[in-house]
Amino acid sequence: MNNSITDIFNKYFNYLPNKTYFSPGRVNIIGGHTDYNGGAVLPFCINLGIYGAITFRNDSMINVYSHNFSNLGTVSFDLDKLEQAKDLGFVDYVVGTILIYKENGYLINKGFDLAIHGNLPKGGGLSSSAAFLVLIGNMFNDYFNFNLSGAEIAKLARFVENDYIGVKCGIMDQFIIANGLKDHALYLETDTLNYEHVPLILDDYKLVLVNSRTTRKLVESNYNTRQQESLDVLNILKEHVDINHICELDPDDYYKYEKYISDIELKKRFKHLVDEHHRVVLSKDALINKAYISLGKLLTEAHHSAKDLYKVSSDTLDNLVEIGISSGSIGSKMIGGGFGGSTLNLVKASHLDSFLNVFTENYKKVYHQEPIINIVYPMDKAGEIND
Ligand code: GLA
Repeated sequence: MNNSITDIFNKYFNYLPNKTYFSPGRVNIIGGHTDYNGGAVLPFCINLGIYGAITFRNDSMINVYSHNFSNLGTVSFDLDKLEQAKDLGFVDYVVGTILIYKENGYLINKGFDLAIHGNLPKGGGLSSSAAFLVLIGNMFNDYFNFNLSGAEIAKLARFVENDYIGVKCGIMDQFIIANGLKDHALYLETDTLNYEHVPLILDDYKLVLVNSRTTRKLVESNYNTRQQESLDVLNILKEHVDINHICELDPDDYYKYEKYISDIELKKRFKHLVDEHHRVVLSKDALINKAYISLGKLLTEAHHSAKDLYKVSSDTLDNLVEIGISSGSIGSKMIGGGFGGSTLNLVKASHLDSFLNVFTENYKKVYHQEPIINIVYPMDKAGEIND
């Protein structure tokens, strides 16, 4: 960053902030849409994210400045008149967090000055909203001594998305951002929230993101439709088998139960979910065994399933996966909610330069501009920093 978050804060509030924080974005290696179906996911925190600086005040005023939305200036509202603080764009996440914390018995009773600056590529689908929510959660947790664990901060952040913002997302994004560990991916079972840090030391391979430059706000996309479809499938299955979540079933169970689902599209959602959960388990083992070629195959398989069965891809994402593979990636897939965002490529480190050259050439032939590429590394969870 050119400007440190302390400098940004100082410039807009005219004094030095009390504390500074960083909250990373995330990449999900595999486990597309399993997290609201009780399945496993395998994400990691990345080296890009949101910086925040904060000082709590002795009155009830809240002043928020984002360097990414500098055109908005400082957005101010009164903690005692929260009902008036509506439709404030990114500041809705601050208001929502205060309300959800209060509902759950964690009272925010002091105003604050807050400056933020993110370096997540726009439209990259790298979970800027979860990063922001966990950033605020950490700030509140530290200042008010709530003693919340990472898992609890993640759960509260998810409530804000689900109940205040209106995105029916799962817990993956918030959970990894609040619990990630450097040089590790996190294998999370979303039905129990049991997790395991799995070493992801990338000496011989690189994880390369390509931005599709297309972003769909999750609320406006088909994300909530997929969530509803999953519930529909689950309700049908529950008439025939004793389960709480679709991902409790094995890939073979699909052939046992698909006959009960008459809608052909719902059948496809069902198949994707049982297969995908299984792929996450296999991918975890592949990582542990450093079986990167197998991992790459699983990634590409996951993309095809997201495209053909769960139907959350887009023409651009499909093109980027194809270009990725033909440029030498050993596995390529869309990440995140879909309908836009980024693709992830697993590339042999010794082939990285040639991959980047060939990819760029191939990309330019189709899109007539330079691709936006980021090489990402597994980093630690959100927390306080010395800026
Ligand atoms: C978004 C959601 C997550 C998850 C992914 C799809 O990132 O926020 O909860 O469902 O999509 O895997």
